[in-house]
Amino acid sequence: MGRFEYIPTSFLSILFIFCFCPMVLSLLSQNQTKTMINLSKNLPPPVPWNASYPPCSWMGVDCDPTNSSIVGISLIRYSLSASDFLPLVCKIQTLEHFDVSNNRLSSIPDGFITECGKIKGLKKLNFSGNMLGGDLPSFHGFDALESLDMSLNYLEGSIGIQLDGLVSLKSLNLTSNNFGGSIPTKLGNSTVLEHLVLSVNHFGGKIPDELLSYENLTEVDFRANLLSGFIPSNIGKLSNLESLVLSSNNLTGEIPASLLNLTKLSRFAANQNNFIGPVPPGITNHLTSLDLSFNKLSGPIPEDLLSPSQLQAVDLSNNMLNGSVPTKFSPNLFRLRFGSNHLSGNIPPGAFAAVPNLTYLELDNNDLTGTIPAELDSCRKLALLNLAQNHLTGVLPPLLGNLTNLQVLRLQMNELNGTIPIEIGQLHKLSILNLSWNSLGGSIPSEITNLSSLNFLNMQSNNLSGSIPTSIENLKLLIELQLGENQLSGVIPIMPRSLQASLNLSSNHLSGNIPSSFDILDGLEVLDLSNNKLSGPIPKELTGMSSLTQLLLSNNALLSGEIPKFSQHVEVVYSGTGLINNTSPDNPIANRPNTVSRNGISVAVAVLIAIVAAFVLVGLPTLLVVSRKNCWQPQFIESNLLTPNAIHKSRIHFGKAMEAVADTSNVTLKTRFSTYYTAIMPSGSIYFIKKLNCSNKILPLGSHDKFGKALEVYAKLNNSNVMTPLAYALSIDTAYILYEYISNGSLYDVLHGSMLDWGSRYTIAVGVAQGLSFLHGFASSPILLLDLSSKSIMLKSLKEPQVGDVELYHVINPLKSTGNFSEVVGSVGYIPPGTITRYSGQCFPILRELWGEAMLLIKWHEFPDCKNYWELMISLQVTFATFHLDRLVAGLVL
Ligand SMILES: *[C@@H]1O[C@H](CO)[C@@H](O)[C@H](O)[C@H]1NC(C)=O
Ligand SMILES: *[C@@H]1O[C@H](CO)[C@@H](O)[C@H](O)[C@H]1NC(C)=O
Ligand SMILES: *[C@@H]1O[C@H](CO)[C@@H](O)[C@H](O)[C@H]1NC(C)=O
Ligand SMILES: *[C@@H]1O[C@H](CO)[C@@H](O)[C@H](O)[C@H]1NC(C)=O
Ligand SMILES: *[C@@H]1O[C@H](CO)[C@@H](O)[C@H](O)[C@H]1NC(C)=O
Ligand SMILES: *[C@@H]1O[C@H](CO)[C@@H](O)[C@H](O)[C@H]1NC(C)=O
Ligand SMILES: *[C@@H]1O[C@H](CO)[C@@H](O)[C@H](O)[C@H]1NC(C)=O
Ligand SMILES: *[C@@H]1O[C@H](CO)[C@@H](O)[C@H](O)[C@H]1NC(C)=O
Ligand SMILES: *[C@@H]1O[C@H](CO)[C@@H](O)[C@H](O)[C@H]1NC(C)=O
Repeated sequence: MGRFEYIPTSFLSILFIFCFCPMVLSLLSQNQTKTMINLSKNLPPPVPWNASYPPCSWMGVDCDPTNSSIVGISLIRYSLSASDFLPLVCKIQTLEHFDVSNNRLSSIPDGFITECGKIKGLKKLNFSGNMLGGDLPSFHGFDALESLDMSLNYLEGSIGIQLDGLVSLKSLNLTSNNFGGSIPTKLGNSTVLEHLVLSVNHFGGKIPDELLSYENLTEVDFRANLLSGFIPSNIGKLSNLESLVLSSNNLTGEIPASLLNLTKLSRFAANQNNFIGPVPPGITNHLTSLDLSFNKLSGPIPEDLLSPSQLQAVDLSNNMLNGSVPTKFSPNLFRLRFGSNHLSGNIPPGAFAAVPNLTYLELDNNDLTGTIPAELDSCRKLALLNLAQNHLTGVLPPLLGNLTNLQVLRLQMNELNGTIPIEIGQLHKLSILNLSWNSLGGSIPSEITNLSSLNFLNMQSNNLSGSIPTSIENLKLLIELQLGENQLSGVIPIMPRSLQASLNLSSNHLSGNIPSSFDILDGLEVLDLSNNKLSGPIPKELTGMSSLTQLLLSNNALLSGEIPKFSQHVEVVYSGTGLINNTSPDNPIANRPNTVSRNGISVAVAVLIAIVAAFVLVGLPTLLVVSRKNCWQPQFIESNLLTPNAIHKSRIHFGKAMEAVADTSNVTLKTRFSTYYTAIMPSGSIYFIKKLNCSNKILPLGSHDKFGKALEVYAKLNNSNVMTPLAYALSIDTAYILYEYISNGSLYDVLHGSMLDWGSRYTIAVGVAQGLSFLHGFASSPILLLDLSSKSIMLKSLKEPQVGDVELYHVINPLKSTGNFSEVVGSVGYIPPGTITRYSGQCFPILRELWGEAMLLIKWHEFPDCKNYWELMISLQVTFATFHLDRLVAGLVL
């Protein structure tokens, strides 16, 4: 059947198998049986409730031990959007818990609140992850309700007394909504509340003193709101508090010493605020995790801060702390971040002898002096070591080679000298190695090419001499290689074809010809060979480097000959060379001395046009390819509407689509595998048209039919965080897919453009994770994306991401289709199912791209199985309570 044989088959059939197996005798009352059957008729597919079986055997239905009454109903993740069925549920008078999380409900009917409010035993309600808007309903009745989860909705307004009747409320979760006003204080007339989660909203004002009367509180999470003022000084009254999270607000003042009275407090996070003053001595006496990063704390770090033995994680990075690094570490210390402060003195060697679990150590961007202590080699679990941007001197200790779990080693911008020890070659898990801006000499040891997991290698600006090891080709996962500003000589060897971001060999003494073997680097975007002694012509083969955008050759006096004709996207800089640009007027011409650039428009004009265009297409500026209108139009040999939506059906006009893709000025975005155009339909409405780039691999002769069938499957994907195709058109050699227009452009645009607030970052991360989780949830065939990057995530609004490029999984599946494996294997996003552990470094491409190294750190030991990003995110919040998501999301800007 070819490459589409494992199109996700019905998720339903799997569910049916599950719920038909148990044969349960029905002892349910006629009433409840009738109600349930009635309910099942009101629920659309894919809810797999089959009335010919007893309701107690239905999936998501819980009965009491004797099967005589229903106590729980869970309808999770069924894309339910109509809420009329909700009041029916309240007819089950014995209901104790009701869970409709992760659907698309946009309202709760009044009938539900009045009827369910009367159920005497109802303890849990979960509406998390729906599309509820408007004000929080007023809960009348609900005398027994202990847990209310309305998180991840679009609820708004302020909260007055809507919850005050909930006299039994123990857990309230309103995270990730749009609530404003001040923190609610009327949370059930009794004060039994234990969990109060109000994070990621717009609550403002002060932390109200009234909260301190809820003495049973164990968890308070106000992260990512707009709170200001101080932490109440008598916070010590909440003596049951175990977790206090105040991160990402605008709180100020000093960290109150009364926190020391909270002997049960295990996690305290107040990062990303404006706290001032010192870190109170003794603050860690009971904590396992402390995060005060990104504040304005000053003074020295208390000498005993790290010694309490239960302590596992401390983050004080990005403050104004001075003094030295404490010398006594808790034996349980797992993560230590002191980066970006004013710490001075040595890295205390003795401290590392007895911290076997230390996994993350960041002391970067301080004023530390002295050498890198060889004692670090006893921290065998170390996965990240970041000592960059200090004044460290001496050599790289060969003992570092014993840290075989190391994944990230950043030592750049110090004053290290000596040679690179060959023992570095033992760090087989190393993914990022940055030794740039030091004074390292000698040659690049060929052992470095044993680092089979390496993605980023930066040794720029040292005194490295000798030639580049020819075995560099063995770095099969290398994405970026920076060797500029050294004394390297000899010829350029064959480079790993996985290179994508950039290959920089500039400012060395490299000689010989530009290798024609560069043509295999078809993912490479920037090639910098400037300031060397290269000679001869530019090999014609280089014009086949399909991703190239910049070719920098200046100051290689011996380069000569004619510049071959590159595509219009390639900028060739060749000043200070003997190269001749002989392109005819309708070919690219030089637009400034010794530069060949995009399609003959001067840079100034191009910039002007780009600015104007960016202004017109607000938010879609990244890759506006400026060019004149191209007369060529594709001939669509087949076009089909996929969407059932009548509005789209009436608006989509294939003729207009054809015109739009013929005009390169409509290009708004390019990802690795596709190009997006915007098309204005005759009705005036705008759509995205995506052209698949690797056309010849997508549509081998005679496969058009299968392509259409595959797309039909994707058109049925029904998740608000996944881009769903509305229509498609095929030309003889490529495919065009139409989508709803998304006015905010890609996540990439937003990240690299305006300031994105923390709340939005968090919501985007969560939305992306939900989209991925949805795709991975296909029972028969999880969809793992090939090239997930911030460019393939579109933003419907600043809080609604949609994962794009979904169809590529089937279209270019390297495992199943012939011949294309190597084409994709080097791609950052490639996750071969089943080889996840082997590719653990690649496991979370999106997260890596989004969050940089912070995320890179989490994947691995704890999550050997990377099947479900969403679960990961949740576990992150729980297991890695200390490794808060907001901090990760901070990496978005990096
Ligand atoms: C059964 O349902 C009827 C009508 O809905 C109601 O009047 C009656 O009280 C119910 N009986 C029981 C035992 O719940
Ligand atoms: C909401 O918060 C409660 C209490 O901490 C927690 O048990 C629940 O899992 C949270 N819900 C979500 C969707 O995170
Ligand atoms: C709390 O409940 C009591 C009765 O249980 C009632 O008298 C009182 O007015 C209530 N207080 C508030 C603020 O609703
Ligand atoms: C705390 O919880 C206990 C048991 O749930 C309850 O008896 C007590 O009244 C609560 N404390 C307050 C201040 O409500
Ligand atoms: C944060 O608080 C400071 C005063 O402490 C104030 O000047 C500033 O405007 C506040 N920022 C925001 C975003 O509310
Ligand atoms: C903390 O505890 C000490 C001794 O138990 C007590 O004197 C002090 O008032 C407490 N501080 C606060 C703010 O609760
Ligand atoms: C290190 O971690 C392991 C498991 O994560 C734990 O069992 C062990 O006790 C820890 N060792 C120390 C010294 O804390
Ligand atoms: C640590 O590294 C040194 C030098 O590279 C080596 O001699 C020693 O055997 C290593 N120790 C272990 C336990 O691997
Ligand atoms: C390295 O630098 C130190 C001073 O920081 C100097 O004493 C030493 O001789 C240097 N070693 C080499 C090999 O250059």
